[in-house]
Amino acid sequence: MLSLEEAKARLESAGQSHALQFWAELSAEERDSLLEEISQLEPEELLLHCRAAAAAVSRQSSADGRLDARMEPVPPEFIGSVRKSDKETLQIWGDEGLLQISQDRVAVLLLAGGQGTRLGVSYPKGMYNVGLPSGKTLYQIQAERIQKVQELANLKHGCRCTIVWYIMTSEFTLGPTVKFFKDNGYFGLSPSNVIMFEQRMIPAVDFNGKIIMEKKNKIAMAPDGNGGLYRALVDNNILDDMERRGVEYLHVYCVDNILVKMADPVFIGFCVYKGADCGAKVVDKAYPAEPVGVVCRVDGLYQVIEYSEIQPETAELRGPEGELLFSAGNICNHFFTRGFLKEVVEKFESQLKQHVALKKVPFVDGKGNLVKPTKPNGIKMEKFVFDVFHFSKKFVAFEVLREEEFSPLKNADGAPLDTPTTARRSLLAQHYRWVLAAGGSFLDEQDNPITQKHSVALNEDPPAICEISPFVSYFGEGLEKLLQQKNLNSPFLLDENKAKNLLQTI
Ligand code: UD1
Repeated sequence: MLSLEEAKARLESAGQSHALQFWAELSAEERDSLLEEISQLEPEELLLHCRAAAAAVSRQSSADGRLDARMEPVPPEFIGSVRKSDKETLQIWGDEGLLQISQDRVAVLLLAGGQGTRLGVSYPKGMYNVGLPSGKTLYQIQAERIQKVQELANLKHGCRCTIVWYIMTSEFTLGPTVKFFKDNGYFGLSPSNVIMFEQRMIPAVDFNGKIIMEKKNKIAMAPDGNGGLYRALVDNNILDDMERRGVEYLHVYCVDNILVKMADPVFIGFCVYKGADCGAKVVDKAYPAEPVGVVCRVDGLYQVIEYSEIQPETAELRGPEGELLFSAGNICNHFFTRGFLKEVVEKFESQLKQHVALKKVPFVDGKGNLVKPTKPNGIKMEKFVFDVFHFSKKFVAFEVLREEEFSPLKNADGAPLDTPTTARRSLLAQHYRWVLAAGGSFLDEQDNPITQKHSVALNEDPPAICEISPFVSYFGEGLEKLLQQKNLNSPFLLDENKAKNLLQTI
């Protein structure tokens, strides 16, 4: 930790002396925590960061406009598609993925350092329970899917494989996430295969390039965006760990999608089959202003233009059939080879774009009073995970079905979309469809048949409530032998025990 003199010198060289203005009023403990925080700021970077933040605000709007003019849609031949591929092709990709998994060459990496501000909970989003009959949280569902896909690979290839789960957290989420996993026995996974690490934090800066103090002894800090991944990989020796374990392919995903297919064999297989070093899953954008980034090309290079940065007129553009021109919606599911990541961290990390967000950041004024601003007063700089796509030598996009793979939890209930209710509905609707496809049907509590509905709208409750544990089925497979011609009473929870009982009754 720096001494007071060293901290003063560091702050002064970056034009940030005001961070110590309340020093005389602080207790010994408060002084220590402030010095600790200042010690973590690298002097050169602090100066550049504050300057860049102030400069970025004025540049921002004009630069985005120029970018829009250079955007082109991804050519169809670069998009693999679940919808447009036949069963045999999907089977070939899925088999390739399971083969790679069986050889321990696939790991998953969860981006879980975000603060979940929109959802408005004080704990990490992965700990959220959307109200499923089982009461499972997002973390538990993900942990169980990992175990199921390992089992599918084991059964097919007679092995005992491991999918390592890397979890990127931040200062906000590390402590509670570690505790949650420990308290829940890592949901059946071996702790040595669940690797949590922390991304860096950076200061919020006001429009004059001065770091914002949120308390007299505390700088307002925020995680450096999910593109902080690449630095965090280096800081925490994650690529070495992957190499040591023989992991060649990484499936990176964001925490809030209840339908996420962990280490999806079809996606992994497709990317491996195509010889890609980098890939992204996309869904057809639902409407022009949907808050998803669009995968596109800019000056011939693949890129995602984030929903906050695309001009509304560009998002509205339509093709000859009336379809959205920029329709490849990013669902934050990415494929990377270890070789590509190595190249990124060694050569390109420092070139990653800094995205600017203007935010209302609470601060202490010159008199030490806490002020909650009513309009944006601060700049948060963030890197985005997808900003490495344009360094790829072979990029592929993979279009998946929204109702099977994308239902994110972003907002609290009461908002029209992406809430706990919509997330719960999507999962229950998916499992309802699986049961019908397997030849099962539903009865109500009085044993009256429930009329079947073969298509359930995205934001609608299915006619019957059914939840299937990931331990029983990963993507709807293996249900026929359990459920064909069975009448199930809604609500129906199909867990491992019930599946065993059903097998015995056959
Ligand atoms: C993200 C995508 C957007 C996509 C949408 C789909 C980015 C930059 N944007 O948007 O293109 O259409 O998901 O749902 O990827 N996170 C960190 N550290 C941080 C900030 C975020 O790990 O510093 C994690 C979050 O915990 C989350 C993920 O990154 O798991 C996405 O972050 P979020 O803020 O939810 O992104 P969106 O704006 O929804």
